Amino acid sequence: MILDLVCVSPEQHTLAKELADSLSASLNTSQASSKKPYLDLSEDGLAFFHPAARSRKKLLIDFNSGASRWRIERASHEKLIKKALGRSDAPLNILDCTAGLLQDTLVFLSLGHRVTALEQSRIMFHLLEDAIHRSEDSSIFKNLDLINEEACSYTREVKNIDVVYFDPMYPKTKKSALSSGQLEYVEKVLEVESVSNNAAKEFEVLQSIPKKKLIVKRPIKAEPFSQELNYQVFGKTTRFDVYL
Ligand SMILES: C[S@@+](CC[C@H](N)C(=O)[O-])C[C@H]1O[C@@H](n2cnc3c(N)ncnc32)[C@H](O)[C@@H]1O
Repeated sequence: MILDLVCVSPEQHTLAKELADSLSASLNTSQASSKKPYLDLSEDGLAFFHPAARSRKKLLIDFNSGASRWRIERASHEKLIKKALGRSDAPLNILDCTAGLLQDTLVFLSLGHRVTALEQSRIMFHLLEDAIHRSEDSSIFKNLDLINEEACSYTREVKNIDVVYFDPMYPKTKKSALSSGQLEYVEKVLEVESVSNNAAKEFEVLQSIPKKKLIVKRPIKAEPFSQELNYQVFGKTTRFDVYL
């Protein structure tokens, strides 16, 4: 990966060096150039900047305020996801194959479930780990296992999973339930890492995981990955396809 990790604060150089090694990035201890993408480690945390992103703000995941906090506090109001999960008296073991910004996982955790969340992108994984580390309420993450791995390669290791959850990137032209700025930034991260996905193929692999239920989040008008689905839960812009 040809990417700078910028860190101007001498106190953080040891951590910056570790991160740069783990991300195969080059450590830059002077000011960044705003003409190319870079990672930025500062007292605020680890952030990602891309010059072509519409948002002028860097991507800095923050579980202490904004949309994430709101979703944690209002998890019981998340009617669609709750309906897709169905009733259960005991906590479920959920495999979230597409961690992303962890917004959906936060809802699962807030509802009392245990989650193994997989994220294929090394950059997204480190941004998430850093945000979890900065979280003021770490108790929410005690039932989370966040793993930096592509979901289809992980299938062999899966044991005792009740629900497999799959929320692949939407086709570029469609609107997302996440704020467009954040989703665009996730796209930029994947672009920088040259990661591309074939969601329909991945769906077929994920279907083979032993589980009680597979939930797939799709844009409202998109074709289902398979006609064999058991039921659907409709929102305004998104839909959950449920396979038993
Ligand atoms: C649309 S976002 C998921 C958003 C997430 N559900 C949330 O609530 O924040 C898709 C994310 O899943 C990751 N992803 C997509 N396909 C994957 C796969 N097969 N294995 C692991 N991660 C995957 C992408 O790198 C991206 O970060």
